[in-house]
Amino acid sequence: MPEVFGRKVLEGKTAVITGGGSGINLDIAKRYAEHGCTVALIGRTAEKLDTAARGIREAGGAASGHPADVRDYDALAAAIKGARDAHGEIDLVVCGAAGNFPAPALGMSANGFKSVVDIDLLGTFNTCRAVFEHLRRPGASIINISATQAFTPMPMQAHVCAAKAGVDMLTKCLAIEWGPDGVRVNSIAPGAVDDTEGMLRLAPTPEIRKQLTRSIPLQRFATKGEIADLALFLSSDAAKFITGAVVVCDGGQSLASLGVNMMAAMRPRA
Ligand code: COA
Repeated sequence: MPEVFGRKVLEGKTAVITGGGSGINLDIAKRYAEHGCTVALIGRTAEKLDTAARGIREAGGAASGHPADVRDYDALAAAIKGARDAHGEIDLVVCGAAGNFPAPALGMSANGFKSVVDIDLLGTFNTCRAVFEHLRRPGASIINISATQAFTPMPMQAHVCAAKAGVDMLTKCLAIEWGPDGVRVNSIAPGAVDDTEGMLRLAPTPEIRKQLTRSIPLQRFATKGEIADLALFLSSDAAKFITGAVVVCDGGQSLASLGVNMMAAMRPRA
């Protein structure tokens, strides 16, 4: 990892990370653990969590798995209580559990739309609501993993766009309500991130990947590690006056795709 801080910045802290068994969330868990944080991973599949937690322990970190579906409030609350019983008060929360499948609005049933909204938006609310009583206050930080779909309408993504827009507004509402308790709440909105299930679904062929890459000013996808670095910063004391922010990490893609396309068209060919 790039040694941005030069020292362990989360020593002695405990984090709960939903969706922590894989993808961006697992990279965040690894980064937190490298910085001295004990991580409690929550997700649907016990085996996946066990494998992820074992990997972190083998690398010298402290980690445990607590299976629950973020859509099931009672099961989720029990898993969070299990994490608190095992590791003490919770300092950091990452609401990362998400679902996605590309489909036009007319190609998804009401239940398909609801599944994504339930995982992404209701699941984020459920996690924040259930964890609050276990948070170290003041000083706790919550990061909700959003996406650029929250403010960029995209075809085949009506469910995700609607859900993530809700996530970002929830972030802002909770930042206002919980600021006086000393709890910070922020969103991270990644764009295209390499080596994730989401990207495999959204850019399944080399041709689509190439087109997408051309639309990104920095001309590449993010790595999962780069999103983890941002989460590390936001959860650290270096960000202790930042709350209610939606921090976009997309290589500039959402700024002006028309402008980027025009630039690409006008650029002299080598
Ligand atoms: N196109 C259209 N509808 C789809 C679909 C697709 N590709 N995939 C699932 N659905 C619909 C199902 O048909 C079902 O609707 P129905 O009951 O009317 O038939 C509904 O979505 C729920 O499907 P189900 O598989 O029972 O839901 P689930 O709760 O097990 O899974 C999903 C949730 C649908 C989001 C699934 O894609 C998932 O588990 N994803 C997790 C991983 C992931 O998406 N990671 C990327 C995050 S960015």
